[in-house]
Amino acid sequence: MIGVISSAPAKVILFGEHFVVYGEPAIVLAIDRRSYAKVENRDDRRLFIHSSNLNLSGYYEDQVFRIQQGDYKEARLKFNPIKLAIDKVLSKYQDANIGLNVEINSTVPVAAGLGSSASVVAAVTAAVGAALKMNISKEDILRIAFEAEKVVHGTASGVDPAIATFGGALLFQTDTGFKPLEVKADIPLVIGDTGIQRSTRLQVAKVREAKEKYPQVFDPLTRCAQEIVMRAIDALKENDLDSLGELMNINHALLYGLGVSDESLEWLVTAARKAGALGAKLTGAGGGGCMIALAREEKLGAVSEAIQTRGGTPFIAKKTDEGVRIEQG
Ligand code: PMV
Repeated sequence: MIGVISSAPAKVILFGEHFVVYGEPAIVLAIDRRSYAKVENRDDRRLFIHSSNLNLSGYYEDQVFRIQQGDYKEARLKFNPIKLAIDKVLSKYQDANIGLNVEINSTVPVAAGLGSSASVVAAVTAAVGAALKMNISKEDILRIAFEAEKVVHGTASGVDPAIATFGGALLFQTDTGFKPLEVKADIPLVIGDTGIQRSTRLQVAKVREAKEKYPQVFDPLTRCAQEIVMRAIDALKENDLDSLGELMNINHALLYGLGVSDESLEWLVTAARKAGALGAKLTGAGGGGCMIALAREEKLGAVSEAIQTRGGTPFIAKKTDEGVRIEQG
């Protein structure tokens, strides 16, 4: 049986992480690293999920999960949002007696703040919908992926599912939601993974403590973060990479001041700047995870090498306008 293949992109936060929690705007960019999902119908009622990059597989039958490859607990944890999303799609399908084979293949580093889980869920949701010949809109995919994301992250801003669904660049603010941003340039980035897993929750708590202890210090930083985003919007429109790099450096300084950078990130940020990046900053929650460096095409190689030398895992990425999409089927 020919399956349906779909994919969805990963993301980086270019500007505004942490301050976004307090109502300030943030800029999120979809990058050309994608998660792929292949879905086939089955004649029985089993739901098989296999993730080749995580080396996990198992199946659900009558809501009972059975492991086939890898650790039971890990598989349940990782498959939980996927199962939830599939259940939501199936709840709209007339024939509840349906089985599926779901094959996941992601090129997005896991638990690094790059939105891997949301990109997998968006891709699976689209593929299941297409395999069952259902009419699922991007809005439906966003809603389903957001519900699944809440299970993984508790309270989630919804940034990851939104960017995985729509792609491009989004301006996000808690009170106004998402707005697509006009971006002329490719935004050539080197992403450096410190390999250190971090907890978003813990980093957010750290910032809250600083805010509560030093409100008069925190408030001007917040205004500063807002101004950075405003200027970055113009720089993105005008393809002004120099200004974007400078703004990234200032943004990183604010995050460093709040205590969410760490030694591993500092090594990589400094190395990237020394190697000729226009700017570099941590991305996402901090305390490990990833940093991003903006560099002209001819410097991307040198910046990658510098990050690698300092113990990070680099990869080159650029903006993608393609959100969730059907690849085949
Ligand atoms: O590292 P991530 O992708 O989990 O990003 C966290 C972004 C924060 O602003 C720190 C938290 C949030 O919910 O916006």
